[in-house]
Formats: sequence, C-alpha cells, structure tokens
Amino acid sequence: MYLEDIKKEAIKEVNEVKSVSEINALKVKYFGKAGLITEELKNLRNVPNDQKAARGAEINAVKKEIEELVNEVEKTLKTRELEDKLMNEQIDVTLDINPSHIGSLHPLSIEINKISNILVNLGFTQVDGPEVELDKYNFEMLNVPSDHPARDMQDTFYITDNILLRSQTSNTQARAMLNLKPPFKVFSPGRVFRNDLDATHIPAFYQIEGMYVEENVSMADLKNVLLQICKAVFGNDTKIRFRSSYFPFTEPSVEVDISCPYCSAKGCNLCKNTKWIEILGAGMVHPNVLEAGGIDSTKYTGYAFGFGLDRVAMLDQKVNDMRHFVDNNIKFLKQFK
Ligand code: PHE
Repeated sequence: MYLEDIKKEAIKEVNEVKSVSEINALKVKYFGKAGLITEELKNLRNVPNDQKAARGAEINAVKKEIEELVNEVEKTLKTRELEDKLMNEQIDVTLDINPSHIGSLHPLSIEINKISNILVNLGFTQVDGPEVELDKYNFEMLNVPSDHPARDMQDTFYITDNILLRSQTSNTQARAMLNLKPPFKVFSPGRVFRNDLDATHIPAFYQIEGMYVEENVSMADLKNVLLQICKAVFGNDTKIRFRSSYFPFTEPSVEVDISCPYCSAKGCNLCKNTKWIEILGAGMVHPNVLEAGGIDSTKYTGYAFGFGLDRVAMLDQKVNDMRHFVDNNIKFLKQFK
C-alpha cells in the first residue's frame, strides 16, 4: 500500500468513527506494533541510504497528520460520551426516598424534649438523679415518715432495706438542695418505678420534676408557671385548676387538672365527661424539707411540681394506652415524627 493511500484511508476511517472504542481500534491499526504506519517506519531500513531522510520525513509527516486528526476526533468523542453519560445518569432529586430507613424519636423522648425546652425557656436548669436511690433521698429528706404507705413493698421496689428504685423524681429535689444554694430553679426529667400495671399505669414510667427556691416564692408563682407550661404543651386555650391534696413534701399541696384537650372541655370519654384531666402534683415546699436540705425555711420558700410524663404524652400525642410506650411495636413508634 502506498503511503498516500494509507493516509487517505486513515483520514476517511477516523472521520467515520462513532465511539472512543472505535478510535482505539484505529490507533492500533495504524500505530500499533504491526500498525500500517509502524510497518512503513520499519521498512525504512530497506530504503537506500540517500533516500532514507526524505522518506522518513514523508512518513512522519503523514503520521503526524493522522495522529492530530485522531486526537481531535477522540477529544470530541470523549466529550460527547461524557455528556451522554451525565444526561442518562441524572439523579432525580424529586423521587421519594425509602421512608423505612428513617428513624424517629420515641414519643416519650419527643415529650421530654418538648417540656424540657419549655422549662429551659422559663429559666429552669436541668439536674439529674439516680434511678437506683438511697431511701434518704427518695423518702427521708422529703418528709415521708417511715410508716408512710408509699414505702410499702407493694408500691416501691426495694433492693435492700436502704436502697430502692426511686418511686418519684422528687429525689432530685433532695439532691438539688444539698448541691445548690438558693435561689435555684431546677427541673429533672427521668424514669421512676412503682409496682403497678394497667392501661394507665406501668411499672417504669416517667416524671418531670420542677423546683424553685428563693425568698418570697408564692403559690401564685406556682400557678403562673404551671399555667404557662400547660399552655405551651396543650395550646393557648388551656385552663388549669388546683384541687387541694396531700403530699408529705409540700404544704399546701395540690393536684392540678387541665381542661380536657380532647373535647376542648365539652365532655368526652377521656375526661369521663368531667371536662378536666389530672396531670400533675405540686405544692409549696414543706419547711421540714427545706431544713433537711440545709435551707433556712424562715428566709426561703419554694414551690415544687411533678408531671406524670407518660400521662402528658398520652394526651398530647393521642395515645390511648400507656403500655404502647413500652411494647416496642415498630408500627406504633413509626407514627411519631
Ligand atoms: N412526687 C409526687 C408524685 O410522684 C409529685 C409531686 C412532685 C408532688 C413535687 C408535689 C411536688 O406523685
């Protein structure tokens, strides 16, 4: 084959290729080990010496021309192939992702976070106490006499005579008084334990405790803070009512009801047509408790409250059986986002 023909054929072929792999094949055909141009160069050794330089230059010129064309076409093809690939592999960001992989917080965690945020905004600081507790902090310092029925084996889980699973987050009151100097305003969400099981009681449940000690704290302060908390949780129309009650660690003591959030206080099954639902216990800290905590009860007063968190979560998130919270039923848990 004449060099001129090789050149013509190469130019024709290179111009016709449609893919990078085809151009690679042509590279082999012309410039590979046994390629047409390579052969021409090898044949130089048979050319008479006085013509070698001219012939060599001729072949190299053709080689260069084909190579340049090959490079140019290859570049265009590569760009086009990349563009095609990008077009075809486009990610559709509007497609739904598989929702089964999205986790969610437990409804009780959602409620703890919600109320904690409210309390922080009201100036409370979080403190914590242990779940396995000394009798001293759970009962003794809280003015619960040793013959009080709450200490009964049927209510409280005892580990030894002196160590128990705390039956209330009020143990954090006792610990806060020993650790902090008034004025202080603390809250403490946590798990508590009682020997109880039905649709509205489970043996391990949650409370949120609150305590404020300062000079001149009054029952009006207590009512105000509870109203603000309840409105923030259940909506601005929520009303609260105090019913007089008894706790050993507060005097006076109250149980606090909210207007039924289900029926907007018209009367329904949930509030048993009473229009009110009990959600917490509270009161003014008993002077004996302040003194046990090393606080001068002639100088300082305080209020304390304890929310039944599971109860609040049931109302807020419309759950009709407290046991759902501990069933670990994924279908139930997935509803809370
Ligand atoms: N600890 C009480 C209970 O478990 C609630 C409470 C807390 C009452 C603080 C008054 C003050 O029922």
